[in-house]
Amino acid sequence: MKLLVTGGAGFIGSAVVRLAVSRGHEVVNLDALTYAANLENVASVSDSPLYAFEQADIRDRAALDAVFARHKPDAVMHLAAESHVDRSIDGPGAFIETNVNGTYNMLEAARAYWVAAGKPEGFRFHHISTDEVFGSLGEEGQFTETTPYDPRSPYSASKAASDHLVRAWHETYGLPVVLTNCSNNYGPFHFPEKLVPVVILRALSGQSIPVYGDGGNVRDWLYVEDHADALLLVVEKGEIGRSYNIGGKNEAKNIDLVRTICAEMDRLRPDHAPHDQLITFVTDRPGHDRRYAIDPDRIRTELGWRPSVTVEEGLRRTVEWYLSHEDWWRPLLERQGVGERLGKA
Ligand SMILES: NC(=O)c1ccc[n+]([C@@H]2O[C@H](COP(=O)([O-])OP(=O)(O)OC[C@H]3O[C@@H](n4cnc5c(N)ncnc54)[C@H](O)[C@@H]3O)[C@@H](O)[C@H]2O)c1
Repeated sequence: MKLLVTGGAGFIGSAVVRLAVSRGHEVVNLDALTYAANLENVASVSDSPLYAFEQADIRDRAALDAVFARHKPDAVMHLAAESHVDRSIDGPGAFIETNVNGTYNMLEAARAYWVAAGKPEGFRFHHISTDEVFGSLGEEGQFTETTPYDPRSPYSASKAASDHLVRAWHETYGLPVVLTNCSNNYGPFHFPEKLVPVVILRALSGQSIPVYGDGGNVRDWLYVEDHADALLLVVEKGEIGRSYNIGGKNEAKNIDLVRTICAEMDRLRPDHAPHDQLITFVTDRPGHDRRYAIDPDRIRTELGWRPSVTVEEGLRRTVEWYLSHEDWWRPLLERQGVGERLGKA
C-alpha cells in the first residue's frame, strides 16, 4: 500500500512511518515541520526506497493537491495537528487553522484526487483523533464510539470539529473514511513538553517535577508503537464510515504514573533518588478534564487488535530510551516554550 501520512515527523506519525516502512508499505511523509517535528524521528527509515518526504503545510491547499498528484497514494493517514492542550489555551488560533481548516483542506484535496481517479474502491481517508473529544468522565464508565462529543479545551474542540468534518465528507460525498480516537500515548520520540518525558528529564537533572492540581486526573495510557500497530490495522481492515476507539485499558492517576517513572529512575539513575521527593504540585490547568477511559471492545472484537506491552513494561522501555538518547532530546529543550509553564490562561 502507498500511504500518505501527514504529521509523520511528529511523535505518533513517526511511529506510524517507521512501522509502515518496516512492514513493506510505501510511505510519503507530509509534514510542515513545526516546533513539534523532528526528522530525526524517521532517520531509521529515511534512506529506504519505500520512504519519501514532502515538506508541506495542510493549511495550503495547492501544496496538498501537488503532493496527491505527485505520489498518488492508496490511502491517507491524517495525523498532522497542533497537539498540546496547554498551547491551545495560550493560542487557540493555530489549533483552529491547522486542526479544523487544515483537515478541511485535506478532505477536499483527497476528495478531488479520489474523484479524478474514478473513485477507486480501495481508497481510504483515515482520520486520527483523540479521546479528549468525549470530554471528562466521573469515577465510573468508559468512552465508547457512541459517547456524545463534549470537548472542553480549544485543542479537543478543534479535534472534535475535524472529526465532524470527516464524517460529513463521508455522508455527503461518499469519501471512504475511517476514524480512530485514541487515549494518551507515551513512548520513544515523545516531544519533551508532554508529561512523561518532562518527568523523566526533570528527574534526571534533579529538578522539581511539576504535577498539575492534586495529581488525581486519570488517563488511559497506550504505548505509541501499539497505537501505530492499531492504526495500520484500521487503515487496512477498518470498515468504511466506522470509528474505532483505541486504548490500552491502563488507567492511571497522573500522580501514580509520575511515581512509577520516579521508581524506574531510582533503579536506573540513583543519583537523585528517591526521585518522588522532587514532585511539586502546581496550579491546575484551567478546564482540566478529570478522567478519560477508553472501551476498546470494538477494535478488539472486530479487528482482533491487542496492545503488546503493559504500561509497566512500556514505561520501563521509555525511561531507558530517554536515558540513552540525550542526543535526540537535548536540542529540543531549546525550542520555543519548552520547559516553561504554558496554558495557565
Ligand atoms: N499524543 C497523544 O497522546 C495523542 C492521543 C490521541 C490522538 N492524538 C492525535 O494524533 C495526532 C498526532 O499526535 P502527536 O502527539 O504525534 O503530535 P505531535 O505534535 O508530536 O506531531 C504533530 C506533527 O504534525 C505536524 N504539523 C503540525 N501542523 C501542521 C500543518 N499545519 N501542516 C503539516 N504538518 C503539521 C508537526 O510538524 C508535527 O510533526 C494528532 O492528530 C493528535 O490529535 C494524539
